[in-house]
Amino acid sequence: MTGVPGVPTSATGEPHTVRPFAVISGAQVQRVLEGREKQVVELTEAAYRLHGAGDSVNPPSYFLRFPDRPTSRIIALPASLGGHVRVDGVKWISSFPENVRAGLPRASAVLILNDQDTGYPFACLESSVISATRTAASAALAADRLSRDRPRPTRVGFCGTGLIARYIHTFLAGNGWSFEETGVYDLAADSTAGFRRYLEQSGATGRITVHHSAEELIRGSDLVVFATVAGEPHVGDPTWFSHHPVVLHVSLRDLAPEVILASTNIVDDVEHCLKADTSPHLAEQLTGNRDFLHGTLDDVMTGRVTVPAGRPVVFSPFGLGVLDLAVGKYVYDEVARSGELHVIDDFFHELRRYG
Ligand SMILES: NC(=O)c1ccc[n+]([C@@H]2O[C@H](COP(=O)([O-])OP(=O)(O)OC[C@H]3O[C@@H](n4cnc5c(N)ncnc54)[C@H](O)[C@@H]3O)[C@@H](O)[C@H]2O)c1
Repeated sequence: MTGVPGVPTSATGEPHTVRPFAVISGAQVQRVLEGREKQVVELTEAAYRLHGAGDSVNPPSYFLRFPDRPTSRIIALPASLGGHVRVDGVKWISSFPENVRAGLPRASAVLILNDQDTGYPFACLESSVISATRTAASAALAADRLSRDRPRPTRVGFCGTGLIARYIHTFLAGNGWSFEETGVYDLAADSTAGFRRYLEQSGATGRITVHHSAEELIRGSDLVVFATVAGEPHVGDPTWFSHHPVVLHVSLRDLAPEVILASTNIVDDVEHCLKADTSPHLAEQLTGNRDFLHGTLDDVMTGRVTVPAGRPVVFSPFGLGVLDLAVGKYVYDEVARSGELHVIDDFFHELRRYG
């Protein structure tokens, strides 16, 4: 179809129209993503590659903080992803750590998807599950890519055992990882107990060891996952890492600059990660340079950077909006394909410019 002269057309040659606006619930998101750990890691990898090739726009996240509620924040992650995904949008995610005391998850989120032809939003998705999923998929991808030139880890240790730790474990298991030992350490005994129950119910193989310090956990693990809510470094001794583990530093602020400087450092995006007092940002402030950064995960995937086996390797992912878009668009397409989109009729009401 060539369209009407003067009427803008989409990449497929169709004249621009406004898609009906859909609302996708957390239950629908979960139904699509459950058991799809492999596909989600693949589409996460594809999104990193598009981002690495420059086929994306991913400006800095915008942090909304409150003087009267200093532990809480809401972050906006606007982004645009090209390739065959072709979608713009924004994730709006809040972190209210006090929620945990009321038995509620810390984080809640929505994701808005915008049509690249008209700019019109066409979906609002519950996004705490999408966010946790893309974070876990990125961690599982990094665990695989960063351990290719060293013996595959058999002892995993989780420092901080909340929701993100659970998702990361599910994604590791769903992508073929099994462990001889799973170590857990958390400041809160109920978090440790809850995570342990999850591990037992998930049918995880191997021993479960509850550690009583971060040091014990790190020394006993060759794959270390940090998923705490620590606001400043609490792990400062590089000798705890002398067995050269792979470290997934998902919570970003656990490691003192000394540990960062003694490791190979891989990030998801350099400009993003060197902000907001993350551990790599503290290392940059201490040294006045970025020499301690070795590259991005995309650099490792494309072979531009190799990861030496004789040093700890730390992956610090700031968390990119393009990943939320990739996972969100996948969910939208799957729900649409199954004919279960909940469309809000007349959401956009003024659709004729001249009435
Ligand atoms: N990098 C990313 O892309 C990304 C994405 C999502 C979440 N995150 C981060 O992941 C982290 C975990 O999120 P969550 O939803 O699982 O939070 P959560 O509140 O469910 O769990 C965090 C756990 O960490 C424990 N903890 C806090 N300080 C600790 C310490 N010093 N040592 C050991 N345990 C400690 C808490 O007791 C709690 O059980 C947060 O920091 C969040 O910002 C990062």
